[in-house]
This record gives sequence, C-alpha cells and structure tokens, in this order.
Amino acid sequence: MATDIELKSTGQTVEVRHGFWDTLDERLGLSGLAYPVPEHANSLPYLLGGITLVGFVILIGTGVLLAQFYHPHPANAHDSVIYIITGVPFGNFIRSVHFWTANLVVMTAVLHLIRVFTTGSYKRPREVNWLVGVGLLAITLGFVFTGTVLKWDQEGVEALAHNREIGELLGLWGVWFTSEFSRSVPILTRLYLGHVTLLPAAFTVLIIAHVYLIKQLGISPKATPEATYEPPTKEQGRARFTLHLRRMVGYGLLLLTLVGILALVWPAPLGQAGVPGAEVTKPPWMFLPFYPLEDIFGIRGLLGGSIFLFALLALVPFVDRSPWLSPGKRRWIVIAGIILLVILIILGGYAWLSRPAPHLME
Ligand code: HEM
Repeated sequence: MATDIELKSTGQTVEVRHGFWDTLDERLGLSGLAYPVPEHANSLPYLLGGITLVGFVILIGTGVLLAQFYHPHPANAHDSVIYIITGVPFGNFIRSVHFWTANLVVMTAVLHLIRVFTTGSYKRPREVNWLVGVGLLAITLGFVFTGTVLKWDQEGVEALAHNREIGELLGLWGVWFTSEFSRSVPILTRLYLGHVTLLPAAFTVLIIAHVYLIKQLGISPKATPEATYEPPTKEQGRARFTLHLRRMVGYGLLLLTLVGILALVWPAPLGQAGVPGAEVTKPPWMFLPFYPLEDIFGIRGLLGGSIFLFALLALVPFVDRSPWLSPGKRRWIVIAGIILLVILIILGGYAWLSRPAPHLME
C-alpha cells in the first residue's frame, strides 16, 4: 500500500509505502534481488551450489549448539560427546543432523563441481571462480577431517595420528599439524580451533569471493552444442533471481527434512574411546579413494595422492582453453574427467571392501 504526500517546502510529491514488505523493501532494497537471470540458472543442476550453501547454514547452526557442550581436551573430549548423546536435551538429534548434513554437503559440493565441469563453466572469464571453488572443496574436506578427530573415538585418534605423520612429512610447512607446534595447547584442542575458527574464517572469505564473482560475471551460458563462453549473461534473461533464491530455500528445506529423518533413523555413530597406536578403523567415505594409496605407498601415498588430485582440478581451466561449452565439443577433457571419477570410485570401492591395515610408523 502506498500514499502520495506533497512536500510543503518544495511542492514535490513523494510516495510513502506502508505494507510490511514495502517497509522492509524500502529500507533493505530487497526488490533489487529480482534482477534478470537466464532461465537455466533456476534449474536443479544450477542450484546445487546454493543447496550446498544452505547445508553450511545448517552446519553452523547445529555446530554452535554442539560447541556449548563439547570439551576439546583429550581427557574430556570423548566423555563430552557421550554427554551430548545421553545427557543434553535433543543432543543426539542435533549431533546426528550435523553429521548427516556434513556427509550430504560433501555430496552436493562434488555434484556441483561435476555440473560446473560438464557445462564448461570454468572457462573464461570464470577461471578464478573455479580456483576459489577448488579452495572451498579443500576447506569442506578439512571440516570433515577435523570433525572426525574431535569425536576422540578410535577413528578420531587414528585420524589424528595420520594428521601428525603428514605434518612431520611436510617438515617446516607441516609444523602446525604436529604436537611440537605448541607445548601449552594439546593438538586436539588446536584442531578444534581449526574446526570452529580457522576453517570457518577461510570459508567465509572464499564464499564471499565465490558469490561476488558469480554476481559480477553472471551465470555461465547454457551449454548448447553451439554455445561458447561469450556473450556475457550478467543480468540477462527472462527469469528472476528471486525465483532462484526461493528454489534454493525450498531445496534447502528438503535437505533439512532429509537429514532430520536420517538423524532419527540412523543416529551419528560414536566408537569406543580411542587407543593411541592401534589401527583398526577406516576413514570416512570421502577419504576412502586415498586409502589403497596408503596401503601401497604409506603416508606419502596419502599426501601425494591428495596433492595430485587437487593439482589436477586446479589445472582444468588452463588445460581446456577452447571456447566451447558443450561436453560433446570437449570430448577429451570430459573423457579424462570420467576416467578420473571411475578410478576414484574403484579405489574407494576397493578400500571399502578391504580390511583395515596398519600404515603408521608410530
Ligand atoms: C563447497 C562449497 C561451494 C559452495 C557453497 C558453492 C556455491 C556456489 C553457488 C551458490 C553458485 C551459483 C550457481 C550454482 O549454484 O550452480 C556457484 C557457482 C560456481 N561454482 Fe561453486 N560452490 C562451492 C564449491 C565449488 C567447487 C568445488 C567448484 C569447482 C572446483 C566451484 C566452482 C564454481 C563455478 C566455476 C561457478 C560458476 C558457475 C557458472 O557460472 O555456471 N564451486 N557456486
């Protein structure tokens, strides 16, 4: 609702808006979000990044609640997780929602990467945003890794032992990951700080850069057989970004419902308190493809394999420089991507079926 009011001093007429949304819009400029975007930008494959973002919001909310009861000291950590499960009202549910969201966020981030790769959206002028995305993926895995250690069960203690050995292997570069870095704060406590301060800070910087670049460059053109990275799509198209936001929230609520059901049916697991030196567990599923490399080459295989994979990902926009977006016109890189994915699935499947084996030197 709006009323026209005449200013006595100048004689000008100004519109004063009264409705709740009008009032809010006038102050926050919300209608500016209804800028034009191409129609394909609102389809599910192009919403996967947004769904991942909603997943991170759920992780922050549940993470803040868990942090009220978790004790990041080796002497108390495992007991505090037991307390969250058995003593804190809804503690088991909140912990399980955090656990399942983390798993699904890794899946949606990887599916988002596969979409961006398939539609050639890493091409000029989006190379930097692809690299920012590679950084976001590394941070996401860093969250899962440190989160695994925090439980301080057998899996957590073994994950920490790997962390230490990798730190030692990296020498000066890896000193933060070793117990020697600080004599006053235990390494578990420092990894907890990594989980709740350093990684969120790095994530915030990179996600701001990611979203800024998407806004500045527009979404990549639809990958039709004739499409090239030109022309610019910024604020072009018949659809509206507000629909994108509505769908993002809608899919986000679906994600929340799914993790809620998973959390009720299969609460997050917790093993026995960890015994240092023993190696009887396998890592979470997203790290399984590197497990056979560790079987064969030891801890060097684990480190080398991860660096190699991330280097390959970072190189993608610099190797595939043709103007074409459609997968049919970028056959060799798409085939290379499929081969890499199949290798990762085979390595992961092999690790899943094999028995846990000792790798560490300690
Ligand atoms: C892990 C957290 C991540 C979040 C929250 C995120 C979020 C987003 C969002 C919201 C978009 C807008 C379009 C869409 O949803 O598809 C987007 C686009 C994009 N993302 Fe990500 N992303 C993440 C990871 C990645 C990764 C791992 C890569 C690649 C290595 C990547 C590369 C890109 C690129 C190049 C675009 C522009 C795509 C286009 O214009 O079509 N992102 N991201």
